[in-house]
Amino acid sequence: MQLIPVHTDTPYDVHVGTFLLERVGQTVRETCPGATRTTIVTDTNVGPLYAEVVRTSLTQAGLEPHTFTFEAGEKRKRAATLVDCLEFLAESELSRGDAVVALGGGVVGDLAGFAAASYLRGIAYVQVPTSLLAMVDSSVGGKTAIDLEAGKNLAGAFWQPRAVLADVGCLATLESAQFADGCGEVIKHGVIADPELFAVLEGTPLTLDLLMANVPAVETIVARNVAIKRDVVDADEHEHGMRKLLNFGHSIGHAIELCEHFQRGHGECVAAGMVAITRAVEAEGGCEPGLAERIDAVCRAHGLSTACTWDADELFEAALHDKKRAGDAIDLVIPHAVGDCVIERTPLPRFHELIRAGVSAGKDR
Ligand code: GLY
Repeated sequence: MQLIPVHTDTPYDVHVGTFLLERVGQTVRETCPGATRTTIVTDTNVGPLYAEVVRTSLTQAGLEPHTFTFEAGEKRKRAATLVDCLEFLAESELSRGDAVVALGGGVVGDLAGFAAASYLRGIAYVQVPTSLLAMVDSSVGGKTAIDLEAGKNLAGAFWQPRAVLADVGCLATLESAQFADGCGEVIKHGVIADPELFAVLEGTPLTLDLLMANVPAVETIVARNVAIKRDVVDADEHEHGMRKLLNFGHSIGHAIELCEHFQRGHGECVAAGMVAITRAVEAEGGCEPGLAERIDAVCRAHGLSTACTWDADELFEAALHDKKRAGDAIDLVIPHAVGDCVIERTPLPRFHELIRAGVSAGKDR
């Protein structure tokens, strides 16, 4: 088991290992000392697989467990589900000292975290991520949210968990497409911060087959990703500067997601976004030659298509809805080399040009 301490205003540890579901009760005991009751928030995919193990662990630790289960899917990350969850916490008579356990992927973690942030003006919660994307990204750093009609994650709060338990054994039950989707963020971490991680992924892609053959190798990669995210969050908890590096590939990626009505995975859209922006930068001689092809190759080796069938005007129009837009500019992450990326405030017409260059360089291939 690997322990990665996060040094936010309220510090906590991320545990990465196996058989951690069995330790949820003990962890809640240790990190939420006032708790007597807990509510597991989960969804209809994850609950049937893992809620019972977690309930048993909570009961054995002397914590009364309740379970709130909602229908799986991004479509349910909405105000109605949040209100149902808050009503459930109240009906279960959770008080200020009690705790929520977020058991699931990114949707569950974001919604349960926001419920914990707002119930009684904030109670403790522990993240138990079960998808690769949630383990390496969304469960760490305290971003919680729901979606609004106007876009994803438009209402939420920064609310740090008391602990994160990433049990890599849970990855074995993911569909291969869902596992691959999480690899988009793993590759992103390599490009923004870690040439060694990127080289490992180029040599041996992170796949379900690797998990079956070599659990410690996957544990090491997940822990390395958590450490990269931790370093960024430690430096800039509330995303005033450096945390924006985590948005590499996201400005064009979010536009692709929107154009595809969220039918294509977030990680794959980010992969396509990373390749498009890198192609645009490379066409101007702004990065190491061959960088776009390297990123493209590693994404494809992880089962992520980087194809983009949308034209530049459609993508630009969609990108205007990005919540990270600052008036008539947007903060873009510009890659110079693997491990060397910078944040550049970019006027919108220039962003439009970059999208055009990135998309047309992709079509020329
Ligand atoms: N997922 C990006 C962040 O946590 O800032």
